[in-house]
Amino acid sequence: MGKEAIKILAVDRDELLKMLNAALAEEWLAYYQYWIGARLMEGPMRAEIEPELLIHATQELNHAVLIVNRIIQLEGTPVLNPKDWTKLAHCDYDEPKDPYIEVILNQNLKGERCAIERYEQIANFTSGKDHSTYQIAVQILNEELEHEHDIQDWINDIQRMKEEWKKLR
Ligand SMILES: [Fe+2]
Ligand SMILES: [Fe+2]
Repeated sequence: MGKEAIKILAVDRDELLKMLNAALAEEWLAYYQYWIGARLMEGPMRAEIEPELLIHATQELNHAVLIVNRIIQLEGTPVLNPKDWTKLAHCDYDEPKDPYIEVILNQNLKGERCAIERYEQIANFTSGKDHSTYQIAVQILNEELEHEHDIQDWINDIQRMKEEWKKLR
């Protein structure tokens, strides 16, 4: 609990807590999206990409830690029931019914793009008003940008590989 933390806050606390709880729900869903996708995945480059996806998953959990700590510091209540994750999250959770690697990667890519929008929103909302949340949002945003970049690179590599195979036929 932090009395001063709340006193210095120059943004609408309820509004901010809503955004942070949505982000927290999204991080858990992103974690599971990566974690289950990495395990089901089949196709080219699976052996190289699987451990990378598990690293992304761990980083999403670390984001959840940063967010939940800030919610508690602001005397908010973090989402308490996993049933609420999909209700609070604006980013979709896509069931990885098709295990083909490109399908899994595209599901993760969609999630990353949504996460980038979320942290862009929180950074804009807190910029110059709540330095602490702003700093957390930018730190996470930078990692989500790296995640997006990684996934795009893998998708491009798989495309290149497929083109090379076609030439060999
Ligand atoms: Fe994240
Ligand atoms: Fe991410």
